[in-house]
Amino acid sequence: MTRILFVCLGNICRSPMAEYVMKQMVNDAGLAQAVTVASAATSREEEGNDVYPPARRTLLAHGVPCPPRTATPLTRQDYAAWDRIIGMEARNLADMRRIFGGDPEGKLQLLLHYAGEERGIADPWYTGDFEATYADVCAGCAGLLETLKQK
Ligand code: 4NP
Repeated sequence: MTRILFVCLGNICRSPMAEYVMKQMVNDAGLAQAVTVASAATSREEEGNDVYPPARRTLLAHGVPCPPRTATPLTRQDYAAWDRIIGMEARNLADMRRIFGGDPEGKLQLLLHYAGEERGIADPWYTGDFEATYADVCAGCAGLLETLKQK
């Protein structure tokens, strides 16, 4: 079993989009029994809130299921609970190192690293461009899926 946790600031836009896109890719690849996927927040800003409506609409428009969920803050215990802990932008990685007290097992990575790019996922919170976020998330998740198939 590989356990994957996606992380962003609020856990209502980018990381839930990554969670649901990745779940669909994992299911379609026949890996649902081998991979667990979830997401969490580095802040408490949106704790308890569901996916931001424009993010949900974008997923549904692309045929990606988006069931109700609640934004959940990351805890120090998450470091042991997950195998790969994947941030949407550099700030998420810095915040995670603070919350976890470092990254002794090398579990942290940027999502777009798996697409061969060392940059952040397009942040829709300020731009309103959820399609750009969706495209970036799909590129990162597709690359991540390839690394799981190689196991
Ligand atoms: P997310 O988007 O980190 O992609 O879920 C944001 C959600 C909330 C805030 C910022 C970004 N906020 O400042 O409350």
